[in-house]
Amino acid sequence: MSVLSIQDLNVYYGSIHALKGVSLEVNEGEIVTLIGANGAGKSTLLKTVSGLLKPKQGTISYAGSPIQGKPAQSIVKMGVSQVPEGRRVFAEMSVEENIELGAFLRKDKAEISKDFKKVYDIFPRLYERRKQSAGTLSGGEQQMLAMGRAIMARPKLLLLDEPSMGLAPLMVKTIFETVKDINEAGTTILLVEQNAHLALSIADRGYVIETGRVILSGSAAELQSSDEVKDAYLGGH
Ligand SMILES: Nc1ncnc2c1ncn2[C@@H]1O[C@H](COP(=O)(O)OP(=O)(O)OP(=O)(O)O)[C@@H](O)[C@H]1O
Ligand SMILES: [Mg+2]
Repeated sequence: MSVLSIQDLNVYYGSIHALKGVSLEVNEGEIVTLIGANGAGKSTLLKTVSGLLKPKQGTISYAGSPIQGKPAQSIVKMGVSQVPEGRRVFAEMSVEENIELGAFLRKDKAEISKDFKKVYDIFPRLYERRKQSAGTLSGGEQQMLAMGRAIMARPKLLLLDEPSMGLAPLMVKTIFETVKDINEAGTTILLVEQNAHLALSIADRGYVIETGRVILSGSAAELQSSDEVKDAYLGGH
């Protein structure tokens, strides 16, 4: 079953045509990755799905209903959460307060505290540092925090924008293993990455985007063995 179905999406920033007729599907239970270079339109796509940008043309269906142009808050309520590029934690607030923000649309107190426990189980480091202000965390810890906050919204669909960016290899490994765990626990994932090698290692399927257009798509295995992907995104290996 299709969780997210995007057809002919066109998004502009003023006169800049950032997405030029993008179509893609994410099925229930999948990890789908969107690979592309700087400026390809990856973040634009995620922001349009999450309601931060309005498309000029095209449709976005989530769980069978059109969501394009809806306010971001109602899209979160429907079960879509986004971990934005660059993490964006609230530096002055504590780790705990940052996590709590992810549940701001929920009223089910008992369930919220269960999810708190879940986040701390996934990321023990956040539990150790729960009283510390978020600005004092390392880059990798801030990435964990941004993911923890997203988990608190109980997403059915999680949108991740370059979770590996700026992290040491060991931390990247931890983050990607966690992405896989979150998926195995039942969350469908759309993962934007410049690190194609890593993204394809955990994804079921992928799309390659170049200057606002999807130029290639297929199973992770197909993309890993494609010459075009190897040359442009896998360092020729
Ligand atoms: N707020 C904005 N105003 C004008 N142009 C923008 C804006 N945001 C993005 N763009 C342009 O839209 C295009 C797509 O940008 P986008 O941020 O989606 O790329 P990206 O694939 O996420 O790149 P990166 O890997 O560097 O994050 C780029 O040409 C970018 O310069
Ligand atoms: Mg981006």
